[in-house]
Amino acid sequence: MRNVHQRFGDQHVLRGVDLDIYRGETLVLLGGSGGGKSVLMKHICGLLCPVKGTIEVDGESIDCRGERELAGLRKKVSMMFQSGALFDSLSVSGNIAFPLREAGERDDIVIQEKVCKALEIVRLPGQEEKMPSELSGGMRKRVALARAIVEMPAMVLYDEPHAGLDPVTADSIDHLIKDLQTDHGITNVVVTHEMRSVFRIADRVVFMQDGQIYFKGTPTEIKESGDPVLLDFLEGRSERAGEWK
Ligand SMILES: Nc1ncnc2c1ncn2[C@@H]1O[C@H](COP(=O)(O)OP(=O)(O)OP(=O)(O)O)[C@@H](O)[C@H]1O
Ligand SMILES: [Mg+2]
Repeated sequence: MRNVHQRFGDQHVLRGVDLDIYRGETLVLLGGSGGGKSVLMKHICGLLCPVKGTIEVDGESIDCRGERELAGLRKKVSMMFQSGALFDSLSVSGNIAFPLREAGERDDIVIQEKVCKALEIVRLPGQEEKMPSELSGGMRKRVALARAIVEMPAMVLYDEPHAGLDPVTADSIDHLIKDLQTDHGITNVVVTHEMRSVFRIADRVVFMQDGQIYFKGTPTEIKESGDPVLLDFLEGRSERAGEWK
């Protein structure tokens, strides 16, 4: 991403984002709530178009005007949404099959096999027929993850995959993310507020502030940065922390 800007009305959310994401890495994106992390990820998969600046994936610039080009991009990059965003009227299998059908797959046996494999990867085998309303929060997250990986894209964007999960399930999501990287060569971009996960999964960490990239480095570098803004964030201290002492 080069000098990417986005605004909504008079709110200037992205103010010149410069970011490189390397093939095969797991990058964790950190930053305060409302700071533009979800907005930034939506630019990488072509759901939002910058008002200024450029984004290239695999050496090709994202041309936001053409639906056909975007269909090509969506095969390469998929996103697990913050809310899960499952279709309530479709079964688990219908939800996971959705991107396959969108991409033109018509062979029901192929679809069934891919859905079954994706459910195995997220450790929910045999849950095809359940409806979203019958799932726990953690299961919904995993189904959303299965849908994001069913086509084995080159890159997966995860928007808060740990939110609302118990620590053991959160840990299993971390293993999944790392397995996708090591076994399938998938490039991962993860937004999370779960600091333990950051140090478990990140090859690199990026911290956003005021609509720009404030810090880029390894997990060790962020810990040893000595920067109060970063350390307060990592340790969950607010500006008013002193008042409680
Ligand atoms: N489609 C939209 N239209 C108008 N404003 C939007 C839109 N999407 C996001 N915003 C605004 O952009 C800002 C950044 O939102 P974003 O969802 O990227 O934050 P975030 O960093 O993901 O926060 P959180 O950690 O709470 O998920 C917010 O003020 C939000 O209200
Ligand atoms: Mg968000």
